[in-house]
Amino acid sequence: MIVTKLGARRDEKGGWLPAFTPEALTQAVEDNLRNLGLDVMEVVNLRSMLDVHGPKEGSLEPQVEAMIKLKERGLIRHIGLSNVTAKQVADAQAMTPIACVQNLYNLANRQDEALLDQLAAQGIPYVPFFPLGGFSPLQSDQLSEVANELSATPLQVALAWLLQRSPNILLIPGTSSPEHLKQNLASAEVKLTPEIVQRLDGIGKP
Ligand SMILES: NC(=O)c1ccc[n+]([C@@H]2O[C@H](COP(=O)([O-])OP(=O)(O)OC[C@H]3O[C@@H](n4cnc5c(N)ncnc54)[C@H](OP(=O)(O)O)[C@@H]3O)[C@@H](O)[C@H]2O)c1
Repeated sequence: MIVTKLGARRDEKGGWLPAFTPEALTQAVEDNLRNLGLDVMEVVNLRSMLDVHGPKEGSLEPQVEAMIKLKERGLIRHIGLSNVTAKQVADAQAMTPIACVQNLYNLANRQDEALLDQLAAQGIPYVPFFPLGGFSPLQSDQLSEVANELSATPLQVALAWLLQRSPNILLIPGTSSPEHLKQNLASAEVKLTPEIVQRLDGIGKP
C-alpha cells in the first residue's frame, strides 16, 4: 500500500517550502495520482507545516477540510496526519476518521509517549519517522552493548525496541542499501527480554 504525505514542496537546493494551503494540498494529490498512475491514493498524510521542524499548536481546520473534500471526491481513501500535536489529532478526529499518525519518535526522542499510547488505545497506527535517528543515525554505548550481547547491530536493536514498544507501531526505516534493508527486516526476529528493554528505556529518559 502506498502512503504519501502532503504539505511541502522542494526548492532547487532541496530545501522544504510549505505548500500548505487547501489549493496546494489539492494540487499535490492530483500530482501524486498522475505521477503514480493511480485513480485513488490509499492513505495520504497531511504533514503540518505550521513549523517545518516539529509539531506546533494551531488550527489545521482549513487543511483537514481540504483533505475531507478530496476524500469525498474519491481521490483519497484514508487521511493520516504528520508532525502534529495530540490536540490537533483530537480536533481532526472530531471532523473525520484519522487512519494513522506519523511523528518523530525513536529510542532517543520520546516526546510522543502519551500520544502513542492514546492512539494504541484507539487502534490507530503510529508511524515513527526517523526511527533510526534520521540524518544522524542513533548511537549510544548502551545500544551497542545490548547489540553485542544479542549478536545484532545497534540499529536492529533500535527497531526491535520500537516493535516491542506498542502493537500500533508501523516501521518505515529508510535505506539506500539492500544489505541494510535485509538487516532492518531481520530486526523483527530480535527478541528483547524485559531486563534489556528496561536498559534501553533508559536511553531516552529525560
Ligand atoms: N513526516 C515527516 O515529517 C517525515 C520527516 C522525516 C522523515 N520521514 C519519513 O520517515 C522515513 C524514514 O526516514 P529516514 O530514512 O530519513 O530516517 P531513518 O530511517 O531514521 O534513518 C535512515 C538512515 O539510517 C541509515 N540506515 C538505515 N538502515 C540502516 C542499517 N541497517 N544500518 C546502518 N544504517 C542504516 C540510512 O543509511 P543507508 O542508506 O546507508 O542505509 C540513513 O542514513 C521515510 O519514509 C521518510 O520519508 C517523514
